[in-house]
Amino acid sequence: MLEARGLTKCYATIPAVSNVNFTVRSGEILGYLGPNGSGKSTTVKMITGLMEPTSGQVLYHGVNIKDELPAYKKVLGYVPEEALLYPYLTGWEYLEFVGILRGMDKKLLRKRADALLQLFLLFPYRHATIASYSKGMRQRVLLIASLMHDPEILVFDEPLSGLDVTSAVIFRKVVKSLSEQGKIIFYCSHVLEVVEKLSSHLLILSKGNLVAHGSVSDVRKMTGLATLEDSFSHLVQERDAEQIAHDIVEVMATP
Ligand SMILES: Nc1ncnc2c1ncn2[C@@H]1O[C@H](COP(=O)(O)OP(=O)(O)OP(=O)(O)O)[C@@H](O)[C@H]1O
Ligand SMILES: [Mg+2]
Repeated sequence: MLEARGLTKCYATIPAVSNVNFTVRSGEILGYLGPNGSGKSTTVKMITGLMEPTSGQVLYHGVNIKDELPAYKKVLGYVPEEALLYPYLTGWEYLEFVGILRGMDKKLLRKRADALLQLFLLFPYRHATIASYSKGMRQRVLLIASLMHDPEILVFDEPLSGLDVTSAVIFRKVVKSLSEQGKIIFYCSHVLEVVEKLSSHLLILSKGNLVAHGSVSDVRKMTGLATLEDSFSHLVQERDAEQIAHDIVEVMATP
């Protein structure tokens, strides 16, 4: 069980995440939704142990992750929002590097990396440098790196970014079946349709604050609106899309 208690992060004095609480159990997929800048990636950095909270804590099986960070990282798979990989390494070298960092047995590492490179259609490019990869290829390397050591917890920050339709469909099915196997999954995105289909529970974040928590139908009931999209817009008070689009086009055409 992964738990956030009173999780808060301020950059200088500006709060990016304020008092976020949640629990994700084995077999659950928690969808973490919010508009740009609402604090999703900041939360992700805290629950992956990359960033210390200003206050509050992250507990895994009741233990503060900061007290057991190396052990925690071994059971964690993480796909960051940006594919900031080492461009001078080849795909293969990157996976080897990540596997060694996680203490994987060399033989197992080679076997899994080979098989996953095949399945993600990267095997023919494994000895090319990451600098030469397309955006989707880099994203697929990140996905492999997160799955290779068969972690207990998976944290995805916009994992479909840059993936084509087939890769995205496969990835969603993988996530579903990993959750059925009992993994703890934290799935962060602003793509409503995907989160709605995948998640067992939802959290909606607005300006660093949780504004809704529950199943998709709980959230709809809470707002009294028919679709998750309407509920989401209502909860995060997004700007009037129609009006903004109209104004943008008008500005372009105004001499
Ligand atoms: N390193 C940083 N220093 C200062 N402010 C930051 C830093 N990282 C994020 N912020 C601020 O914190 C807020 C939340 O950012 P965050 O990246 O967590 O949002 P997000 O929900 O992941 O957005 P997106 O959907 O665009 O990825 C934003 O206002 C952002 O400007
Ligand atoms: Mg983000």
